[in-house]
Amino acid sequence: MPSAEPLVEVQDHGKVVVLRLNRPAKLNALSTALEQALLDALRSPEAGSAGAIVFTGSDRAFSAGADTSELPEMTPERISAYYRGSGSLYEVVARLPQPTVAAVSGYCLGAGFELALACDIRVAGESAQFGLPEVGLGILPSSGGLTRLVRAVGPAIAKEIILLGERFSATEAHRLGLVREVVPAGEVVNVALERAGHLAGQPAMALAWTKAAIDAAAESSAGASLLIEQLAYAALNQSAGAPS
Ligand code: COA
Repeated sequence: MPSAEPLVEVQDHGKVVVLRLNRPAKLNALSTALEQALLDALRSPEAGSAGAIVFTGSDRAFSAGADTSELPEMTPERISAYYRGSGSLYEVVARLPQPTVAAVSGYCLGAGFELALACDIRVAGESAQFGLPEVGLGILPSSGGLTRLVRAVGPAIAKEIILLGERFSATEAHRLGLVREVVPAGEVVNVALERAGHLAGQPAMALAWTKAAIDAAAESSAGASLLIEQLAYAALNQSAGAPS
């Protein structure tokens, strides 16, 4: 019987919107339905007008990853359609104009970790456990997480994390630079809200273009990246929020 509870709770905190994954019985496993619910929530008027967005789960799990019960059904044709459908979630999150904060408690595995990596900033509770177990299942992280992890920590550490598939703590994630701060388990969402609130107070256009310029810098020559900086500055200097 379908649950009456929404798969994603949209909580309005003024300038900040919190999207809470709400599939606790399955540790917030990212089924295609949950991914689609997140995409729908991102299209909601609340999220559209938010200055910053926080993604979170439950105390026990941010998310235990892709729904493993759906994996055997995935033929190459379905996988191709998946990336055009609910599987576009991770790139949609990565390209949001607003800053995003992942507030992580408990398990943050597989696609759950990939969702957190698609956010701009990660705050972790002491209970958080990160990991990419895909290779052990005969597949690989393929929701942008492999690419983002290599760019975040370099190929040597990315290989250790992905090939070994071992879970690691919030403290280790912090040491690797994947997490901005580790806080007591019960305070993750409040701290994330504080950080997101600060971000939401910054000029929106500057945030959006700077995010895009940083992403472009990671994949451009120095010359192209410098040009993007200068063109973005020229455009931003005329936008609302620039000093007059
Ligand atoms: N997909 C679908 N269901 C999942 C899931 C996932 N990724 N992760 C957990 N669940 C479900 C379990 O099947 C179980 O459902 P049930 O109660 O109906 O049997 C429920 O969530 C609770 O999980 P359980 O394994 O009993 O909890 P645990 O505390 O003993 O272990 C984990 C937690 C996260 C270590 C374990 O569930 C796990 O290894 N999950 C798979 C993680 C994974 O491989 N993710 C990447 C997929 S590509």
